[in-house]
Amino acid sequence: MPRPTIAALILAAGKGTRMYSDKPKVLQTILGEPMLRHVYNALAPRFGSQPFTVVGHGAGLVADAFPDMSERFVLQEEQLGTGHALQVAWSAIVSAGADYCLVINGDTPLVSPEALDRLLDQTGCCDIAFMTITPRDPAGFGRVVRDEDRRVSAIVEARDFSVAQHGPATGEVNAGIYLLRVASVGPLLDRLGNRNNSGEYYITDLVGLAVDHGLAVEGVQCGDDVSLMGINSPRELIHAEAAMRRRIVEAHIDAGVLVHNPETVIIGPGVVIDPGAEIFGHCEIYGASKVAAGARLGSYTHITDSAFAAGSVVREFCHIESAEVGRDAVVGPFARLRPGTVLGAGSKVGNFVEVKKSILGEGAKASHLTYLGDAEVGPGANIGAGTITCNYDGKNKFTTVIGPGAFIGSNTALVAPVTVGRDALVGAGSTITKDVPDEGGAIARAKQMNISRRLKKS
Ligand code: UD1
Ligand code: CA
Repeated sequence: MPRPTIAALILAAGKGTRMYSDKPKVLQTILGEPMLRHVYNALAPRFGSQPFTVVGHGAGLVADAFPDMSERFVLQEEQLGTGHALQVAWSAIVSAGADYCLVINGDTPLVSPEALDRLLDQTGCCDIAFMTITPRDPAGFGRVVRDEDRRVSAIVEARDFSVAQHGPATGEVNAGIYLLRVASVGPLLDRLGNRNNSGEYYITDLVGLAVDHGLAVEGVQCGDDVSLMGINSPRELIHAEAAMRRRIVEAHIDAGVLVHNPETVIIGPGVVIDPGAEIFGHCEIYGASKVAAGARLGSYTHITDSAFAAGSVVREFCHIESAEVGRDAVVGPFARLRPGTVLGAGSKVGNFVEVKKSILGEGAKASHLTYLGDAEVGPGANIGAGTITCNYDGKNKFTTVIGPGAFIGSNTALVAPVTVGRDALVGAGSTITKDVPDEGGAIARAKQMNISRRLKKS
């Protein structure tokens, strides 16, 4: 028999009322990545870029954040509940031709591919399988009700649960991750109603309906697995973020990364760090950053989407975004690298230097108090303290080219577009508006005049 095929569906249309934010809940970030990205990551090993996503509240914003996934977005215009979300997506799932559908709440970002595998193992045995947990505080979750033979008979939402009607609560609750056999569940969808204390269509009512129809239902017990907790409030988000932060930092340490003061280090899930890199506490590294073996990242440094080659050193208190730091280059302390910065091997960007969309050649140096924007700095050039590239005339940006081996004296304004030639020298305090030839010298400042002063004699 051919192996059954499985589609995946993420429910992500809800507003997230309890986050008190205009942002759709699934765009709230955990370690710098939207919650929904974490769910896609968990699904990626089995489903690649194929999952369907039900979106609704802030659908445009979610599509903007995930252009690569939005082809498989299904719009739930009015959010009438998780059961309604499934109804809206059902035709897409059926036309995908899958035998089963994995449905996962978009607010369960900690879930691991391994945990999902436990549920997917139920393929072939059940009409409906779902994951259950026994958290310390089961308050807001759907309660799993079992009969005297411990077989699942229903999920009852917290707001609809009463001991008189459903028996004593066991602490076992629904994690919001389901495996549905498409042929069995399809006929039940029309039977979902909204006569409950929320006035919503619940996906969880499918469980009771399936039992009533004699279908095979399994609650896969996952105990007190915090990675299956849903996120509904800032408090829950912070808990999840803390748990994931620990998990990621520990994994890097186990792999051979030297992390000093690890309780204070934050590393995003997409960051790649080679064993042998060294990271000092109170450091935050996000996005698609890459750190090579032998690179050192200092304390109080905030990094996004940047790459650090072997032997590069970032000293304390730097802010670095979409930059490349070459072999043995030194940055900081107190430096800011903005998008498009490329630092060549052995180059140096020192304190209170801002670099934007600029390339520093091998061994070039800007050691103090400088702004380099839209600049090309040749190998071995030396940029004196207080040099400013004046790259913006109020309307357009222009390029400054500084040749190999050039020496720019302190407190120089380079008014772009302008080129300073190879091995050229610019005198301190100059305002350079014209190109300086190769090996030439330029000085452009008012001549000093010494004047006599009449000092009052008392
Ligand atoms: C849901 C489950 C509950 C379970 C808990 C686990 C239901 C009715 N209840 O409760 O049994 O214990 O998850 O965390 O499903 N959504 C839509 N469209 C809607 C409504 C919600 O797409 O119309 C999405 C939300 O964006 C969210 C997910 O479905 O990602 C779950 O919705 P939420 O309101 O958070 O459900 P819970 O009350 O947490
Ligand atoms: Ca939830």
